[in-house]
Amino acid sequence: MMQSDYIVIKAKEDGVNVFGLTRGNDTKFHHTEKLDRGEVLVAQFTDHTSAMKIRGNAEIHTAHGIVESEGKE
Ligand code: TRP
Repeated sequence: MMQSDYIVIKAKEDGVNVFGLTRGNDTKFHHTEKLDRGEVLVAQFTDHTSAMKIRGNAEIHTAHGIVESEGKE
């Protein structure tokens, strides 16, 4: 079973979306999570999840540092 570090996503506005994308030959959304301002999602990459897409203003804390996603103006 694949193990990986946790990442932490903190929403900076209401309605931030976190999409989980499948691992394997085809890459598809398999899960959507909606976060309101201040809410935090702690998540891992797994056998099923190879990538995540974050839409909206959020802080993304990873082993590589902190990045901020921004929504369109
Ligand atoms: N069932 C999913 C999985 O094990 C749950 C999950 C893990 C997930 N990490 C995620 C869903 C990140 C969305 C985003 O892969």
